[in-house]
Amino acid sequence: MRILVVGGAGYIGSNAVRGLINQGNEVVVLDALYTGHRKAVDPQAKFYQGDIENKFLVSQILRNEHIDAVMHFAAYSLVPESVKKPLKYYDNNVSGMIALLEAMKDAGVNYLVFSSSAATYGIPKQLPITEDSPTEPINPYGETKLMMEKIMHWADQADGIKSIALRYFNVAGASSDGKTGEDHAPETHLIPNILKSAVSGDGKLTIFGNDYDTKDGTNVRDYVEISDLVDAHILALKHLMTTNKSDIFNLGTAHGYSNLEILQAACEVTGIDIPYTMGPRRGGDPDSLVADSTKARTILKWQPQHENVQEVIASAWKWHQTCPNGYDD
Ligand code: UFG
Repeated sequence: MRILVVGGAGYIGSNAVRGLINQGNEVVVLDALYTGHRKAVDPQAKFYQGDIENKFLVSQILRNEHIDAVMHFAAYSLVPESVKKPLKYYDNNVSGMIALLEAMKDAGVNYLVFSSSAATYGIPKQLPITEDSPTEPINPYGETKLMMEKIMHWADQADGIKSIALRYFNVAGASSDGKTGEDHAPETHLIPNILKSAVSGDGKLTIFGNDYDTKDGTNVRDYVEISDLVDAHILALKHLMTTNKSDIFNLGTAHGYSNLEILQAACEVTGIDIPYTMGPRRGGDPDSLVADSTKARTILKWQPQHENVQEVIASAWKWHQTCPNGYDD
C-alpha cells in the first residue's frame, strides 16, 4: 500500500514510518518541521516539507503519489503548552484536520488513522478508562483532539471518509539500537526529563504536584511503548480497510505508575540517584489516566510486547546516552 504519513518527522510519526516500511508499504511523509526532525525520517520514505493546512498541497500529494490511506500525527501535543496557548492549538489542530479531510475528499482517499489522546477523557469517573467513558477534556489539547474526532465522524457520515482514532495514553521508549527516540524542544514529558537530568546531573528535574488523589499524591499515568503503539496503527489500518467501518480504540497497558514510581524505576535502570524538586501542580493534569485497551486487544488483535516499564525506560535511556542532544548530535 501507499501511505501518506502527515507529521512523519515527529517522535511517533517517524517511528510509524519505519514500521510501515518494514512491513512492505511505500511511505510518503508530509511534515512542516515545526517540531519534527528531517533526520528522523527513514531515507526510504519520500519527503515533502509543508503544512497540513495547505489543502491544495495535500490534495496534490494524495493524487500524484497515488495514496491509498493517510496516518495523521501532525497535531500539536503538549498539554501544558495548550493551557498557555489555546488558540495555537485550536488553530493548528482543528484547522489541520479540516484541511486534511477536505484534501482527502477532493482526491478520493477514504481511509484515515488518527493519533488521538487519552486527554479526550478529562478526569475519569472510573479506572481503567474504556472507550465509552465520558469525554470531558480539562485542557485545550484534549479538547482539540476530541473536536478532531467529531469532525472525522461527520466527514464519514457526509463524505464516506472512514477513520480510526487511536486514543494514546503516555507513549515512551526508543528504538532498541538507541538511534531514534524522543527529541522535543522544549522537552516537557516526564521520562525524557528524568533521563536528561540523569545525563546532565543538573538537578533541574521538578515533579509537578504531590497533592493529587492518588497512591502517593503524584499523577498516575499508563506508559505504552513506542513500537507497540506503532504496531497498533498498522493493525488499525488493516482493520479499517477490511471492515470499512470507523471506530475508536484506547492504546495503553492498564498499568498505572505514579510520577514518583517512574522516577524510582529510572533511578534503578540508570543506577543514578536522580535529584528532583517537588513543585506545584502543572495546569491541565488529570489525577490518573489508565487505559482499558481490551477493545484493541480483542478486535485489532493488538498484543503489546513491552509492558514492563523498566524495559521501556531502559530503551529511552540508551537513546539519551547515545544522543544527549537528540537529532542535533
Ligand atoms: N511531569 C513532571 N515533571 C516533568 C514532566 C512531567 O512531574 O518534568 C509530570 C506531569 O505533571 C504529569 C506526568 O509527569 O503528571 C506526565 O506528564 P507528561 O508531560 O509526560 O505527559 P502528559 O500526561 O501530560 O501527556 C501525555 C501526552 C499527551 C497525551 C497524554 C495522555 O503528551 O499527548 O499523555 O495521557 F494526551
